[in-house]
Amino acid sequence: MKNIVLYKSKYGHTFQYATWIAEDLGWEIRDLSKFKKAEIKDYDTIIFGSGVYMGKMNKIKKVLEWFKDKPIIIVACAGNNNVEEDITDIKNNNFSEEQLAFHTFFYLPGGVDFSKVKGIIKMMLNVFIKIVERKKKKTEDEEAILDSYYHPTNYVDKKHIGAIVSYAEKI
Ligand SMILES: Cc1cc2nc3c(=O)[nH]c(=O)nc-3n(C[C@H](O)[C@H](O)[C@H](O)COP(=O)(O)O)c2cc1C
Repeated sequence: MKNIVLYKSKYGHTFQYATWIAEDLGWEIRDLSKFKKAEIKDYDTIIFGSGVYMGKMNKIKKVLEWFKDKPIIIVACAGNNNVEEDITDIKNNNFSEEQLAFHTFFYLPGGVDFSKVKGIIKMMLNVFIKIVERKKKKTEDEEAILDSYYHPTNYVDKKHIGAIVSYAEKI
């Protein structure tokens, strides 16, 4: 039986979780960019995890296309610390009801550190922050973005992988 943990990670949060999960399960681990579609048939169980950017899981379009006939475990890693409403938004933004019923979805809390953001995204972010800062009446979401801009968070903790490891062990 061959099983693998695939990941796509920009700032290392998903990579850390993928490493812990692969270690606990004794599975192979690989960056999605080093995995070929033709290899899918060689594996029994596959976990795919990636970070969430502007509401979308990194590489989710490709993954859902590749695995449309093979159910996998999909793990989103994002900036909220297990906030139910935000997790529901991530599910709705990335999957149809059929896809959610076909695959198995899990969430892992990552963190946010905007100081690590570079290039065009950094420029756009800075413009956005300036606009929000000037607003007299800010929405709750805008207040939350400002807060995370000035106060980096990191919720990455091995204790969060328990449910995923137990589920994968039972398949
Ligand atoms: C530019 C940017 C946009 C982000 N957008 C979202 C988002 O829409 N929703 C969310 O929950 N987290 C968002 N995050 C937080 C990331 O999902 C979080 O940092 C995650 O842990 C990244 O995982 P990775 O390092 O494995 O790529 C964003 C972070 C950055 C830097």
